[in-house]
Order: sequence, then C-alpha cells, then structure tokens
Amino acid sequence: MKPLNILAISGSLRKVSYNTAAIEALSRLAPDQVTVKVYRGLGDLPLFNPDLESQLPAAVADLKSALAQSQGLIIASPEYAHGISGVMKNALDWLVSGEEFVYLPVMLINTSPRASHAQAALREVVATMSGRIIDNACVSVPLLSSNLDMEGVIQTPEIAGPLQKGLQQFVAGIEAQGEADDWASV
Ligand SMILES: Cc1cc2nc3c(=O)[nH]c(=O)nc-3n(C[C@H](O)[C@H](O)[C@H](O)COP(=O)(O)O)c2cc1C
Repeated sequence: MKPLNILAISGSLRKVSYNTAAIEALSRLAPDQVTVKVYRGLGDLPLFNPDLESQLPAAVADLKSALAQSQGLIIASPEYAHGISGVMKNALDWLVSGEEFVYLPVMLINTSPRASHAQAALREVVATMSGRIIDNACVSVPLLSSNLDMEGVIQTPEIAGPLQKGLQQFVAGIEAQGEADDWASV
C-alpha cells in the first residue's frame, strides 16, 4: 500500500466540538501508511469574495496547498438551522474555482444522525464541485450529547469502530479510484 495523505476538516469552531473530536480520533486511529491531517485554519479564512481570487489571502492559499497534497478529504460538519455550517460552506466556496477539488475522493462524517439536511446539502455541494463522495465510507455516529472528546471517542468501540471502518472503506475507495485512473490514462 502506498502512503496516503488525507485532509480532515471539521465544520465547527467550537472548542469541544464533536465533529472535531471525530476527525481528531480518526487521525489517531489511522493505519500506519495513512496520515489524516486535521485542518486547523477554518476560522482564519476570510469571508469568500471572488474579487480576492486573483490575489489569494494567505489562509486560503494554505488550505489549497494542504488539499493539493492530499489524496482525499474528510468533512465532518454540524447542521445549523437545517443547513451546512457557514464556516464550512465558506471554505468550500473558496475551493470551487480551483483544481484541487476536482475528482477528489470525499468521506462525510455525520456526528448527529438526526441531522439529515446538512448532509444532503453537503452531498449536493461536493457533487457540484466535482468531488467524488465514496458512499460506503460515509458514516453517521451518535456523538451529539455524548460528552465524548477525542480520547473518549477512541475508547468507545461503538463510535470508534464505525469511524475506523469508514476510513478503511475510504482508503480502499481512494486506491480503487487511483487504479481506475491509471488504467484510463494507458
Ligand atoms: C444555532 C444552532 C442551530 C442548530 N441547528 C440544528 C439543526 O437544524 N439540526 C440539528 O440536527 N442540529 C442543530 N443544531 C445542533 C448542532 O448541530 C449540534 O450542537 C452539533 O453537535 C454541533 O457540532 P459540534 O459539536 O461539532 O460543534 C444547532 C445548533 C446551533 C448552535
């Protein structure tokens, strides 16, 4: 297996965010050849403005660079008022016109199974941006009201298990896609 870099973004700025706990746990649970890097710059991104795209703000350039070095993207985002969190959508808007997102394998994590609208909206946005959602890698884990932090997630098999399984499927999906792309270019 080739080493893989995967970027993980939590759509919550909360210090004790369940979404952040989930991706932090995955970064610890990832197999040896897989690096799950937790993106920490969401709160530093300016509000999206197409006028700024000709001279990218440093925080945006950093996000694009991190994504360009990744073979996959994990998104764990809360639902606010039946929508994607504003900070997550803002980050995605900055990525719409670049090349980094096109055909990028994407895994979605939902930490609140009752929240279906944001997940549906994320699917629509990611597909519109030509990302490739790996369906069997997407997981829903009941973290809401659990009071679990990253360590708690790791130590709770009912939560850590599905997350780890999802990551395994995601890695398999990325590898399968890489092989299919190799064949297509022969
Ligand atoms: C302003 C606000 C609006 C919310 N709206 C919804 C909603 O529409 N549907 C839902 O299932 N949860 C909703 N929630 C609950 C959050 O999705 C939930 O608290 C989630 O855990 C936040 O993610 P985090 O723990 O990663 O910060 C809302 C929370 C807030 C603060």
